[in-house]
Formats: sequence, C-alpha cells, structure tokens
Amino acid sequence: VSSRWRLSVDDHVELVALEPDDAERVFALVLENYERLRPWMPWVTPESTAADTRAFIEGVRSNPNPALREANGIYVDGELAGGMGLNGDPMNAVGEIGYWIAGAYEGRGVVSRSVVALVDYGFRDLRLHRIEIRAATENLRSRAIPERLGFVEEAVLREAGRTGLGFVDLVVYGMLAPDWAARER
Ligand SMILES: CC(C)(COP(=O)(O)OP(=O)(O)OC[C@H]1O[C@@H](n2cnc3c(N)ncnc32)[C@H](O)[C@@H]1OP(=O)(O)O)[C@@H](O)C(=O)NCCC(=O)NCCS
Repeated sequence: VSSRWRLSVDDHVELVALEPDDAERVFALVLENYERLRPWMPWVTPESTAADTRAFIEGVRSNPNPALREANGIYVDGELAGGMGLNGDPMNAVGEIGYWIAGAYEGRGVVSRSVVALVDYGFRDLRLHRIEIRAATENLRSRAIPERLGFVEEAVLREAGRTGLGFVDLVVYGMLAPDWAARER
C-alpha cells in the first residue's frame, strides 16, 4: 500500500492512486451518492456496477502512460470521500482534471484545494503546459471551482457530454503553466 502514488493536499486531505481492490468501496460511495452524481457523471448509469469501477481502475493502471494520474481517491482524514483524476494528452502537454465528492464532504473546499495540488503537480512534475476542466454548462457547483482558481472560460462544446440529463453542452476552462505560476496565492 505504501508504494501507491499519493499527493498531499493539506494536513487532512490527500489524493491516493486507486487499486483494483478499492473498486467495491468506491462503487459503494458512488451508489450512496447516485442521485447527486447521475446528472453529471457519464459513467454513473442505472446499469453501472462495481465491475465497471474495477475495469476502469485496471485500465488506468495498464495505460502505457502512467505519468498521468487518472484514478485517485480523495481521502479526508483517511476516509474515502470522492474521486479525482488528471488525464490527457502528453504529446501536447495538455491535461484535464475531473472530480466528484460525496455529499458529506461537499461545501468544505476539499475539491478546490485538491485541484490546486493536482494542478501544481501537473505543471511542476509532469511539465504540462495546459490543464483543462470541463463541466456541463448547468453544473454551477463544478464551474465554480475553475472560476475560483482563475481558469479562463474558453469555449462551449455543444452536446459534447452525455449524462443522466442526456446530451449536455460542456464549458471548457483552461489554465496555462505561466499563468498558474504568476497567479496570486
Ligand atoms: C462539483 C463538486 C465536486 C463541487 O464540490 P464542492 O464541495 O462544492 O467544491 P469545493 O471543494 O470547491 O467547495 C466549495 C465550497 O466550499 C466552501 N469552502 C470552504 N472552505 C473553502 C476553501 N478553503 N476553499 C474553497 N472553498 C471553500 C466554498 O464557500 C464553497 O461553498 P458554497 O458552494 O456553499 O459557496 C460537487 O458538487 C460534486 O461532486 N458534484 C457532483 C459530481 C460533479 O458534478 N462532478 C463534476 C463534474 S464536471
């Protein structure tokens, strides 16, 4: 377990790479939060099972580009609280961050602080040049995160996402490495 990739966010929060044996626990948390996640996360459907979660984690682990950190748990005081990943396009030095958090941990800034840590990691350790966050136009809670952190709202991709609401427009936020380095903390 100690060999897992992990990223400290603060004294209480850390991101830890998921392993296949975490699938049942992660999926249980997804089910507990089904009504909250279903409108926004394309992989949360009535047909979803723990086997899908396991297949996702295994797929990420077998990715030939393990430098991207696609499947992590957000842990708060050692308890699984949500998920966050950095995936993307290393050839172009572009990454994309996605996230969800259980209702019990929402509204505390845990996700915002975790995004800061993962963006720092992406620019500093992975030498990315650009990091994106995409959210359904109607997902105001999610959009507040890149907006709070100074990402630039760049585009709306028409019906580029499929969620529990059907096809949804996605708004793309972008951050560039020099702008992140220059921003006030
Ligand atoms: C989108 C989602 C991850 C946002 O979670 P969140 O907890 O609101 O996000 P944050 O960690 O940024 O917390 C922000 C809240 O914490 C508060 N907060 C407290 N301390 C804070 C701090 N140090 N920094 C930032 N915010 C802080 C903010 O005021 C804000 O509360 P408010 O919304 O009542 O004003 C969550 O709503 C979710 O999981 N939704 C369902 C799945 C989903 O939509 N995922 C994204 C798909 S694109």
